[in-house]
Amino acid sequence: NTVTLGFVLLAYLIGAVPFAVLVSKGFGLADPRGYGSGNPGATNVLRSGNKLAAVLTLLGDALKGTLAVWIMARWGSDAPVAVASAGLAAFIGHIFPVTLGFKGGKGVATAVGVLLAFSGWLALACVLIWLLTAIVSRYSSLAALLAALAAPLVAQALIGVPAITGACVVMAALLVYRHSANIRRLLARTEPKIGQKKQAG
Ligand code: G3P
Repeated sequence: NTVTLGFVLLAYLIGAVPFAVLVSKGFGLADPRGYGSGNPGATNVLRSGNKLAAVLTLLGDALKGTLAVWIMARWGSDAPVAVASAGLAAFIGHIFPVTLGFKGGKGVATAVGVLLAFSGWLALACVLIWLLTAIVSRYSSLAALLAALAAPLVAQALIGVPAITGACVVMAALLVYRHSANIRRLLARTEPKIGQKKQAG
């Protein structure tokens, strides 16, 4: 209904709050769209050398996903389709934000926040996959890709609600699409490792 749609739109707008740009501005750092991968996300903010700014970007971008879903469940509707739509809307708000001319981030942090709102165990499983891959490979993008591909499977196994699994499938597809340049660099072995400032375009 209209109220639920309104909360989906609100979720999109919450997702469109660009923490990488805002936090960088707050710290007097350069706009992350102008250096490194050019991505307004925590991994790229870390390339500024400011770890706190990167952590705050990560937290902000994640929490907005959680918040958007919580608001839907609390004040909108707690029907699975509504909750799943709010999560997807926040994720889309992050990667296609009206606030940055629809050129946003790659969705990793926001997806984690959305997964957390869906299920703590689901988020934990994906974060563990991310962490393990990141520790072993030192590639933030590879860690995100593996965690994203696992998310729908874990969601189906742990929750088994079609709308939630569906939202995870769409988020994973968009996340992989947004990592096209990273995938090319990974295959060419030119992808920079975590915290490495040098960047291959
Ligand atoms: O979280 C985004 C990460 O997977 C890739 O970011 O800046 O290395 O393209 P970046």
